[in-house]
Amino acid sequence: DATLAEGAAQVLRDNDNGVILVAAPSLYPHQWSWDAAFITVGLARVSVPRALAELSWLLGAQWQTGMIPHIVFDAVDGYFPGPERWRTELSPNRPATPPTSGICQPPVHSLALAAIVEAARHGSAADRRAATEFVRDTLDQWLAWHEWLATVRDPDRTGLFEIHHSWESGMDNSPRWDAPYTRVTPGVMAPFVRRDLAHVEDATERPTDLDYRRYIWLVDQMASVRYDDADVQRVIDFRVSDVFSSALLALSSDVLAELADTVGRPDAADRLRVIAKRSRDGVAASVSPATGLARDRDVRTGEWLSTATVGGFAPLLCGGDPGLVSAQRELFLGPEWCGHPELRYAVPPTTSPADAAFHPRRYWRGPQWPVINWLFARAAVERGDDELAGLLRGESLRQLSDGSFSEYYHPLSGAALGSRNQSWTAAVALDWLG
Ligand code: DGY
Repeated sequence: DATLAEGAAQVLRDNDNGVILVAAPSLYPHQWSWDAAFITVGLARVSVPRALAELSWLLGAQWQTGMIPHIVFDAVDGYFPGPERWRTELSPNRPATPPTSGICQPPVHSLALAAIVEAARHGSAADRRAATEFVRDTLDQWLAWHEWLATVRDPDRTGLFEIHHSWESGMDNSPRWDAPYTRVTPGVMAPFVRRDLAHVEDATERPTDLDYRRYIWLVDQMASVRYDDADVQRVIDFRVSDVFSSALLALSSDVLAELADTVGRPDAADRLRVIAKRSRDGVAASVSPATGLARDRDVRTGEWLSTATVGGFAPLLCGGDPGLVSAQRELFLGPEWCGHPELRYAVPPTTSPADAAFHPRRYWRGPQWPVINWLFARAAVERGDDELAGLLRGESLRQLSDGSFSEYYHPLSGAALGSRNQSWTAAVALDWLG
């Protein structure tokens, strides 16, 4: 364990470019929003000031609308789509610098904030002061982020907020998005060259070329209306309520509300608890009576999207009705999920091996992702389910014992997939070992 922890800390040191921790050494040479949050959880175990600096940098790129962008670009080249394709300078809401993308990622940042506060509690007086001041000084910015999701992205207050690109879900090519993507039909567009395939061993570990045409088509559609929130909703070919991210908004809002209370901001805490409750109710209302899984919804057609993916376990993230949570827990540990007899490690595959859409190598279509395991473990702790948290921790650490800190893992063979020395994987390992 000491060797594994030392290896994880080394990955974080190596990926630190002096300003940010890049998400991965070559595949992702910039700061990604939810990566930065997970990375901060790990950094908090090493250095509270360094962890604060990571979140500060991200927050410095917040848009005037409240949105935290999914990529904050560093001055390097080598990633597509870079700033020249995003063209977010067209938006009056973007900060002047640094350049950013024009979409968001799941709201997990309060978990990072709470991890810093917790680490500081065991640290020096200076750490404690810095952490408390940071929470107090940035609270309104985090609140604006949550409120933007809960209002602009959920105009009808359904409790499920919508996304305009599957990159916003973080689960780019999950079968969750297959049906909505059939309705995304790229027209004439400027040519582009993918850069991601150069950084993995095998192209089947990444999304397909057709996926990428659709991804870039959506970017171009948003740029065509200068990333104006209302106009994007009017023109975009992809509008889907994301149940997994909405559950994360509920969990994060509860956690942020507790932090707001500690810095004497009951007004903010109240607003956050309203968001948490509405999101939790929205998640519960999405559960399919037939499968027991939570569902996304295509806003354009009104259709519920029933796929057997890990997104279906949203209620295990945000909690709620005890009957629902215990039924979900049983399903989660059962033979179609973590308990599937062919799995090498008992952590959730991103698509059930029992489902036709399952692909054991292709990115979010089957592989296991340590950060997802961490989220379920973190949420279990929040609910007081230490048994589930311990199980996920134990299995995840066995999976990570190869020391490659890979982006994702083959659920049947346990082989490392995607990028190696991925910052967020090293970060959650550090947290588990801490
Ligand atoms: C990528 O480039 O693969 C990312 O997931 C998009 O944010």
